[in-house]
Amino acid sequence: MYQDLPFEAFQPYGDLRHDQRWSTWSSVEKSAHGPEPRPDWVITDDGAIDTDLGVLKTGKEADVFLVERATPGASGCSSVLAAKRYRSAEHRQFHRDSSYTEGRRIRKSRERRAAAKGTAFGRLVQAGEWAGHEFAALSSLWSAGVPVPYPVQIDGTEILMEFIALDGAAAPRLAQLRPPLPLVESYFGQLREAMAVLARRGLAHGDLSPYNILAQGERLVIIDLPQVLDIVGNSNGMEFLLRDCRNVCSWFVSRGLDVNADELLAELVAQAW
Ligand SMILES: Nc1ncnc2c1ncn2[C@@H]1O[C@H](COP(=O)(O)OP(=O)(O)OP(=O)(O)O)[C@@H](O)[C@H]1O
Ligand SMILES: [Mg+2]
Repeated sequence: MYQDLPFEAFQPYGDLRHDQRWSTWSSVEKSAHGPEPRPDWVITDDGAIDTDLGVLKTGKEADVFLVERATPGASGCSSVLAAKRYRSAEHRQFHRDSSYTEGRRIRKSRERRAAAKGTAFGRLVQAGEWAGHEFAALSSLWSAGVPVPYPVQIDGTEILMEFIALDGAAAPRLAQLRPPLPLVESYFGQLREAMAVLARRGLAHGDLSPYNILAQGERLVIIDLPQVLDIVGNSNGMEFLLRDCRNVCSWFVSRGLDVNADELLAELVAQAW
């Protein structure tokens, strides 16, 4: 008897399931939205509903969930997003040392005092600092044309971003692949260009490895960017850049490509100045 009723009849406003929430798009400040021009799949509707689809991957400092954002109704649309939720300091298994954050400051003094005191709020501020830094890096690098997931929005310690999918599942990490040589060559070209764009902006990823690069078919996408750092402003900048070069080059060498970390480093450094 209810079969012909529209979807709204089953989902009256205010009556959400335990795994649903109202889209947080409108409740965050405009500055917490991703850069323009926005991709057309980004849903900005006030009436949209977010449904948690479960954990995609638990990491050392954050967990990544799948969230579907959808507008109800026959003409509704939906998109699946990756939600990276940073844990507070006491729930992390990994603590980046201060060599990453050197030169960076928490601006608001109340937050700085809380962080220094180690209060629960302070630990949240620190988790938010990493989330905020990753969101800012994703935003500026996406605008510069670097292949990173589009950052949809940030809300406290949660970043909602483009889900990098392949055949309906999460795209695999480069580390687990053995592509044919022509594709390996193409991947190296893409990565070298992406690292060069960062270098021209004076930046290094800081934790680049085949585990933080996804292969979406023939295209590479770089992820996990909270620690992006200033090559010159950070006194360990060159070491981080060299480590990034070594990590990626050793994967390419193991897949049959004749590349060299020192040469890549020299090429990037030449572009940074
Ligand atoms: N936008 C995305 N699209 C598809 N998969 C993603 C996305 N973001 C993250 N992932 C998956 O979740 C994993 C963890 O993400 P990320 O590396 O950003 O977090 P992390 O806490 O640093 O994890 P780790 O400790 O494993 O490095 C990734 O290796 C990847 O498999
Ligand atoms: Mg990672």
